Amino acid sequence: MRGRFITLEGIEGAGKSTAMEMIRQHLEQLGVDLIVTREPGGTPVAEKIRILLLDKSNTSIASDTELLLMFAARAQHLDELILPALEAGQWVLCDRFTDATYSYQGGGRGIDKQRIAQLEQWVQGELRPDLTLLLDLSVEQGLMRAGRRGEPDRFEQEPSLFFERIRSCYLERAKQYPERFRIIDASQPLDQVQQQINKQLDNHLSHVS
Ligand code: TMP
Repeated sequence: MRGRFITLEGIEGAGKSTAMEMIRQHLEQLGVDLIVTREPGGTPVAEKIRILLLDKSNTSIASDTELLLMFAARAQHLDELILPALEAGQWVLCDRFTDATYSYQGGGRGIDKQRIAQLEQWVQGELRPDLTLLLDLSVEQGLMRAGRRGEPDRFEQEPSLFFERIRSCYLERAKQYPERFRIIDASQPLDQVQQQINKQLDNHLSHVS
C-alpha cells in the first residue's frame, strides 16, 4: 500500500521545528515507518537550491526565478526521495510543500495562482498531500518569536505585510481544501499545540486503517 504524505505549514515563527518533532515522535510511537524531510531541500541538489533561495546576499532574484527554483528543488525532491518512499509504503512527513509556494510566491510575491497551478500539475501530476497541518498564529506573534532566532534569511527579512498576505493565503487554502487541511492554533502553549496535533494525527490514522 502506498504511504501517506503529510505536510506541515505556517508563517515564520509558528513553531514548525518543534511541531515537526512532535509529529515524528507521535507517528513513530504508533509504529509508522516514516521519512522526515523539508522543502526547499531534502536531497543534496535541492539543498543547494535552498541555499541559493535563502541567501540574503542574493538581492536581485526575480519572483519568477524564485518560483521556478522552488519547483526545481521540488522536482528533484519528488524524484529522488518522496515518490520512491511513498511507493515503498513509507510515510513522508515534509516541512512545507506546495501550499507554501501558493502562499509565499502567490500571496507574498503576487504571482498569478494559475501559473503556480500549471507548475504544480507539471511537477507533481496528481500528487497532493493526504494531510496538511497548518500552524496558525498572528503575524505579530510569529515575527516576535522568529526574531529571537538571530540572523534573518532572505524571506525572514521581509516586512510584516508580506507575512500578512501569506497567512491570509494559507487560511484561504485551508478553506478551499477542508478535506486535507487541519488548522492548529499555534498561539497556544506548547502542550496544547501538541494535544491538537496528536488529535489530528489520531483522527487521520483512524480513517486510514
Ligand atoms: P524554513 O524552512 O525555515 O521555513 O525556510 C524556508 C523558507 O522558504 C521559508 O521562508 C518559506 C520559503 N518557501 C517559499 O517561499 N516557497 C516554498 O514553496 C517553500 C517550500 C518555502
